[in-house]
Amino acid sequence: MPAVVPETKSLNVLSQAVRHCTGCDLYRWATQAVFGEGRKDARVVAVGEQPGDVEDRQGKPFVGPAGKLLSRAFEDAGMDRGEVYVTNAVKHFKFEERGKRRIHKKPDRAEILACRPWLEAEMRAVEPELIIAMGVTATEALLLKKVAITPLRGKFNEHPWGTLFVTIHPSAILRAQPEDRDREYRRFVQELKTAAGWLRHRSAE
Ligand code: URA
Repeated sequence: MPAVVPETKSLNVLSQAVRHCTGCDLYRWATQAVFGEGRKDARVVAVGEQPGDVEDRQGKPFVGPAGKLLSRAFEDAGMDRGEVYVTNAVKHFKFEERGKRRIHKKPDRAEILACRPWLEAEMRAVEPELIIAMGVTATEALLLKKVAITPLRGKFNEHPWGTLFVTIHPSAILRAQPEDRDREYRRFVQELKTAAGWLRHRSAE
């Protein structure tokens, strides 16, 4: 059954409703839906892919290893994570069991589309000025088309829900070769600084 999203701008109501979502099959295996988190008056929404193993257990977005890296990067970029509404394109964890481990699996297009009404409802509620798409899944969910990150990375694009800024997913830094990790992290922070600069500039206008 398609996602049943209440017509409301209340993040509270939405986050309760998403718990009952059966819009795709992922709810069958995940512990719980993980909704976005942050202030309703946030100027920025950061969008990731889907909750990971830790997020699935805790019910909060970006609280595992990628989330810790993201918090550090926000701080290094001079942004306050508390001022950013953080969410995911897909609200349920998709994984494959390997022994005791649950290995992340990329959501497919049907799952991304099934979940998009939740993302849209969050955007309607928050009305961000800036949307930071982190990685390919978030960018595809927002642009509704297949994309390659490289040509879009570090750039601003107009989007009906707010100005869109594309960067990589913090997990890509964790997955990078150890010798590349530092450089990738610095570039990510630099991109977040670009986004922060855009916001500063806009407030000064
Ligand atoms: N990766 C994501 O895309 N989102 C999370 O919440 C955690 C890891």
